[in-house]
Amino acid sequence: MDDRFNDIKHKAQEAIDGCSDLDSLEQIKLEYLSRKGTIAQLFKELSNIPKDKRPSFGKDINSLRELLRFEIDQRADEISTKSPSLEEACDATMPAPRPAVGSVHPITKTLNEICEVFTRMGFAVVEGPEIETEFNNFEALNIPQDHPSREGFDTFYIKDEWLLRSHTSPVQIRYMQENVPPFSIVVPGKVFRPDATDASHSFMFHQVEGLVVSKDINFANLKWALLEFARVYFGKSTKVRFRPHFFPFTEPSVEVDVSCVICGGTGCRVCSQSGWLEILGAGMVDPNVFKAVGIDPDIYNGLAFGMGVERIAMLKYGVDDIRLFYENDLRFLGQF
Ligand code: PHE
Repeated sequence: MDDRFNDIKHKAQEAIDGCSDLDSLEQIKLEYLSRKGTIAQLFKELSNIPKDKRPSFGKDINSLRELLRFEIDQRADEISTKSPSLEEACDATMPAPRPAVGSVHPITKTLNEICEVFTRMGFAVVEGPEIETEFNNFEALNIPQDHPSREGFDTFYIKDEWLLRSHTSPVQIRYMQENVPPFSIVVPGKVFRPDATDASHSFMFHQVEGLVVSKDINFANLKWALLEFARVYFGKSTKVRFRPHFFPFTEPSVEVDVSCVICGGTGCRVCSQSGWLEILGAGMVDPNVFKAVGIDPDIYNGLAFGMGVERIAMLKYGVDDIRLFYENDLRFLGQF
């Protein structure tokens, strides 16, 4: 009899231990402890047992029943507290929510793209501070105090000689003071002007400045570099037009137009029917600027240009209001 009890006990124990979910544990419970289960069968046999052995047989059944109840309850506890398996925890076939992936801001993207065109031509990318001195922002760039040309550059003054740079040209000064030519650099960065905000003005915007200084640089190099930029950036068939202009820090100076990127030059609303879009100012470095930084204008020549990044981004992407770049509306930013 002992053997039979042991067999039942071992089989039950094995089944309980190997069981990993409550449903199959319930099946084991039914198999052993229900009214028709193994234990109940044993009780039925009681009447066939010789009278003198019945009490001990009965006791053995009882303790086996208690043992199985205990083991099953304990296993049930273990199963319900253990962490679910991967299959139980997640349905790998369920469509996942789309993660919100950020994107590069259109202005940063445009800055990077412009700089990349020039780095491929051999320019180095250089940056400078947004808080500048009057000397770097004006004087050294041949814009003396009280000179009428300062009027074109409304400026946020901070204190004493400090101001928020109104263009990236002061980085020309910093770079020329610290480096020996020849060099060619582009300077991306923020600039500030106290303009009232509207669809085409902002008190903060971005420029990319360019400067090349060498013994044998000339206006033809300037023309080639800007034509090449326009063709790479706006497309192979883009034409470029140079118009005489005035900047205190370049002589001669030009404003540069590209054939309209929208209509290709036939005339449309964006180019006011002219077929041309102004994208930058440029010229040959004025000898007075070289003198201010201690470079001999009889030995060296330089070309310089400066372009407004927002304007270029607006033309490239067909954006008609500069304020869209600063509102951080994800429906707008997500399109780039
Ligand atoms: N600094 C000028 C501006 O902000 C642009 C420029 C740069 C023009 C370099 C000529 C040469 O308008």
